[in-house]
Amino acid sequence: MIAELFEVAGKVALVTGGTSGIGRMIAEGFVRSGVRTYIAARDQARADATAAELASAGGVCIGLAADLSEANGPAALLEALTSREARLDILVNNAGANNRGPIAGVTAEAWDAVMDVNLRAPFLLIQQALPLLRAAATEGGHASVINIGSIGGLHIPNWEAYPYGASKAAIHHLTRALAKSLGADQIRVNAIAPGPFHSRLTDTTSEAVKKSVQTYIPVNRAGEAQDVQGTCIFLASRAGAYVNGSTIALDGGYIAAL
Ligand SMILES: NC(=O)c1ccc[n+]([C@@H]2O[C@H](COP(=O)([O-])OP(=O)(O)OC[C@H]3O[C@@H](n4cnc5c(N)ncnc54)[C@H](OP(=O)(O)O)[C@@H]3O)[C@@H](O)[C@H]2O)c1
Repeated sequence: MIAELFEVAGKVALVTGGTSGIGRMIAEGFVRSGVRTYIAARDQARADATAAELASAGGVCIGLAADLSEANGPAALLEALTSREARLDILVNNAGANNRGPIAGVTAEAWDAVMDVNLRAPFLLIQQALPLLRAAATEGGHASVINIGSIGGLHIPNWEAYPYGASKAAIHHLTRALAKSLGADQIRVNAIAPGPFHSRLTDTTSEAVKKSVQTYIPVNRAGEAQDVQGTCIFLASRAGAYVNGSTIALDGGYIAAL
């Protein structure tokens, strides 16, 4: 059955930033597909409330709290996960920070604030999750790491966002480097570079974003939950088991049309 290629039921996933926007969409797709899904964000009450909402129609979702801007945030998150699970089939590094503005206004603190969440935390999480990912690969044949990058790391946008663009280009590069190192362990590492999706970072109902979508996105719409859910389920399942080190532009053709 071809549908079995996309089967993910019974797997265990961790989605950072799963309380809002794209991370919430991804987590919802996994929960509805029978994946035991952990979502992490800074506020425990918010993580719990979102987990309860996502599991209300069935499935399992558990909220964890961690501040990934802190150097020990990834270790604390992994410790919480390891106390509950012996393996991790799917790790989605989605939590992200943005900081726009002209060159002169970029302080060292603002630079670090973006890099710490967008680049350092994903690396440390992958590094420290390796025992759990290896256990999943041994048991289930493969494990899947999905890094959420951005089209902002694939081109230079019309606005200035220096640390953000650099962090996203770097996560795409890191994805390739880790894919090479971890492939032999059947731990695949891929990235998704989203175009505009509705979230706290991007208000797709604003006139500016609507105008930009109409002008630049060939399919003439912003991204929707099913778009990122389908891509993540593909990458996490047998269907995507030969995809390693790729950065998928999930952008309605924006980058292709530049
Ligand atoms: N939306 C878009 O159009 C778009 C386009 C391209 C790429 N992306 C990327 O997609 C990812 C998700 O963005 P989004 O737009 O969905 O943003 P969002 O709605 O603001 O959600 C961000 C999530 O990350 C969590 N988070 C932020 N800082 C954190 C920290 N220090 N520690 C732990 N969790 C933290 C937030 O929870 P708390 O604040 O409660 O901690 C929230 O759950 C990001 O990597 C972003 O760069 C988004």
